[in-house]
Amino acid sequence: VPFLLWAFLFFGVISSSPVPGRLFGEIRSPSYPNPYPNNNVSTWDIHIPEGYVVKLTFRYFDLEPSESCFYDYVKVSDKKDLGRYCGQLGSTMGNHPGRKEFVSTGNRMHLVFHSDFSNEDNGTVIPYRGFLAYYQAVDLDECDPKNAAEKDERPQCQHFCHNYVGGYFCSCRTGYQLQSDHHSCKGKLKL
Ligand SMILES: *[C@@H]1O[C@H](CO)[C@@H](O)[C@H](O)[C@H]1NC(C)=O
Ligand SMILES: *[C@@H]1O[C@H](CO)[C@@H](O)[C@H](O)[C@H]1NC(C)=O
Repeated sequence: VPFLLWAFLFFGVISSSPVPGRLFGEIRSPSYPNPYPNNNVSTWDIHIPEGYVVKLTFRYFDLEPSESCFYDYVKVSDKKDLGRYCGQLGSTMGNHPGRKEFVSTGNRMHLVFHSDFSNEDNGTVIPYRGFLAYYQAVDLDECDPKNAAEKDERPQCQHFCHNYVGGYFCSCRTGYQLQSDHHSCKGKLKL
């Protein structure tokens, strides 16, 4: 029975996932939850299916604070720079991300973690534990003109646009027919 239950849950989960590919995940700094190593550069490329955007939040964040996050930092970017972060919750120096939600423009997000040569000052080790972040795919509303403006390579529906989770489709006014490009509409010939 445990096996059957397990199999049921397992296949239930798989079959209820409509889109292939990773729709969520977690990212940990090296050695997290133990202190991160010195001189480390780690990068992560989050790549989710088309039709979604990436939403990322930090659940835990503890990096050596410094002016302009010059020494240790996490850099978040999509096609643009989304900021450079360091510090501890409540520290005056640095730039702690807090509960900020990072949302990508496209279906990719990139993280860089960088630690410098020393996590310590005068021999007293101050251990910083790094970070734990979660990301998830959220639906991109292709019909929202605001999103269309950011992605002009994407064709727009000539008449009506319908968003659905993971994509969109176009339709036409009565008396018009959707063309093979799936976006433009042409009036039917009246006989
Ligand atoms: C950073 O840390 C990770 C995990 O410990 C390790 O696999 C990687 O090689 C390190 N990279 C550098 C540049 O030290
Ligand atoms: C090292 O610096 C820390 C913080 O600046 C201080 O609290 C500590 O007493 C210093 N330790 C030594 C051994 O000087």
